[in-house]
Amino acid sequence: MLRPRRNRRTPAIRSMVRETTLSPADFILPMFLHEDAADTPIHSMPGLNRWSLEGLVREAGEAHALGIPAVVIFPKIEESLKSPDGAECHNDAGLVPRAIRALKTTHPSLCVITDVALDPYSSEGHDGIVCRDASGGLAILNDETVEILCQQALCHARAGADIIAPSDMMDGRVGAIRAALDSEDFTGVSILSHTAKYASAFYGPFRGALDSSPKEGDKKTYQMDPANVREAVRETLLDEAEGADMLMVKPAGLCLDVIARVRETSTLPVAAYQVSGEYLMLKSAAAAGWLDERAAVLESLLAIKRAGASMILTYFAKQAATWLRV
Ligand code: PBG
Repeated sequence: MLRPRRNRRTPAIRSMVRETTLSPADFILPMFLHEDAADTPIHSMPGLNRWSLEGLVREAGEAHALGIPAVVIFPKIEESLKSPDGAECHNDAGLVPRAIRALKTTHPSLCVITDVALDPYSSEGHDGIVCRDASGGLAILNDETVEILCQQALCHARAGADIIAPSDMMDGRVGAIRAALDSEDFTGVSILSHTAKYASAFYGPFRGALDSSPKEGDKKTYQMDPANVREAVRETLLDEAEGADMLMVKPAGLCLDVIARVRETSTLPVAAYQVSGEYLMLKSAAAAGWLDERAAVLESLLAIKRAGASMILTYFAKQAATWLRV
């Protein structure tokens, strides 16, 4: 009789036959920041803060010291600075460029990733410029948005960002951003494209954290339909052809099949984003005493890695890195 259980018999044997392992180097910490001088707990995301510049730099330093190589920053923009075209997104004196400079000055070896999309800056709460179609319905302008995203990417590159991560899902933005970066000699700045970003209910708490929910309509004309996986293959091939350095899938835990397909389709590294709703599911079940937080979180991250992700964006990054160290 063949007995697979022999390979599971002792911890030593299990450690030898283990196919996937997690390390703090796999994690990217998403961080929220605001213009305030105080660090403020985020109501919609228990356990997380919106950081002041000072708090952001301190927290990022702590994460880096735990072995986490990168952070990605998301700003909460004051209402008075929002506009239909989100022009504040390429203000060199804006919150994000100042945060990039502060992070790179204090922690030069930390990889700083920035989100490129208009939603935190848009008075409409959309990732692109909103207009009305002939029947008065809401539409998002693609090419006009891409021009502004290029300016946003350049603004982040000038401030010292290592990696630009467009999360807007406009067509052609990877190629356009690459050309814009190269034209100003930022050939060393990478693009981590949100290749397969689904129109997901699991982004709700994030929008609460940044006060960036769409004022009208939804994001289904630009974010992908959760029903589709071959469309993710198409986006992968396009992003690769347009010059992306890394590809991203989100929400990670609900898209393990998509991660595997993207991984097979391209030789580029794959990142996966365990999003705010996934964080909250685990966090709230643990708080109620219904799940063992440490075991459940590490298992969720391991599954994302096993599916084919080389990098995992997770709000649990610091906690998981701490658990993995002991
Ligand atoms: C916005 C953006 C969103 C997330 C990352 N970038 C929200 C959205 O598309 O509406 C979601 C991340 C999360 O839920 O943790 N471009």
